Amino acid sequence: MATAARIATHGVTGKQLEDFAADVRAGLSKPGQKELPSKYLYDEVGSALFEAICLLPEYGLSRAGARLLKRHAEDVIDRLPAPVAVAELGSGSGTKTRWILEALSRRQPVNYYPIDISRTALSRCWQELGRIDSVSIVGFERAYLDGLLDVASRRNSGERFLVLFLGSTIGNFDRPAGEAFLREVRNVLHPGDALLLATDLEKSVSQLLLAYDDPAGVTAAFNQNLLARINRELDADFDLRFFRHEVRYDEENRRVEMHLRSARRQTAHIAAAGLHVNFAEGETIWTESSHKYRCDEAARMGERAGFRCAAQWVDTEWPFAQSLFSAE
Ligand code: AVI
Repeated sequence: MATAARIATHGVTGKQLEDFAADVRAGLSKPGQKELPSKYLYDEVGSALFEAICLLPEYGLSRAGARLLKRHAEDVIDRLPAPVAVAELGSGSGTKTRWILEALSRRQPVNYYPIDISRTALSRCWQELGRIDSVSIVGFERAYLDGLLDVASRRNSGERFLVLFLGSTIGNFDRPAGEAFLREVRNVLHPGDALLLATDLEKSVSQLLLAYDDPAGVTAAFNQNLLARINRELDADFDLRFFRHEVRYDEENRRVEMHLRSARRQTAHIAAAGLHVNFAEGETIWTESSHKYRCDEAARMGERAGFRCAAQWVDTEWPFAQSLFSAE
């Protein structure tokens, strides 16, 4: 039987709002290009819109990741000696994780620790995965590395960890920051632990632009919701009718960028951040980068971070890779 799911919360709501206000203040008062951190795209509305994005025919990332896990979950598990506990960075909707947990639970009882800053995402994950036999779930409503440290403190003797980072979220980090993040993950792990990392691979620019600027406007709503969230949570007055979703491909950095372009000269007031922001007509706020990788580049990045690339599986329908790294 699946055991009861629990959540480890840390009563940080007031602190989270303060951090949000501070990040918004810093990003919007930067000289030159204004920015907002992409992690704030995922409130309840943003997470629901992201799930809708994953269903769009133009956005192949999630389906590619799910296909790979459906095909190769057993291969992944076969490479890890029992007993293995699973920690997941960003619980997402849990759909892809099912393949891993089911394969593992055929061999042993499984402790599964999803880590996500979004309580909504954790709840969805339980709805999706809470009934798998022999899987016990304890969720951590925490930032990835803080959560991973908490999870690591629960290691049973002789247990290895498999860390899942499946959504290709590494692409939302700048390359050096992505590598530094993997090194921090490695520092929490022990030799013999493993990391399964998803990376979206390079593909044609036209395919990428369509994936991030879909004709149904779901990604536009996802992007604009960031300003709507600032209005809701930080008592601001952004007029969403005058900020347009814009997507660019930066060839040099091999990344898709999402921006919000001000359609006219305007001022926004963000009460909780104590800030008035002026926008020139055409000025943009940079809200997200999505870096695209090459297979060998992903492997080398993990290796520089202190892992050995034990295996890689690639989806050819939508170029996308899962790399299994072992902590040396
Ligand atoms: C979560 N992350 C990997 C998505 C991506 O493709 O960068 C977020 C996203 N942004 C726009 N569409 C999807």
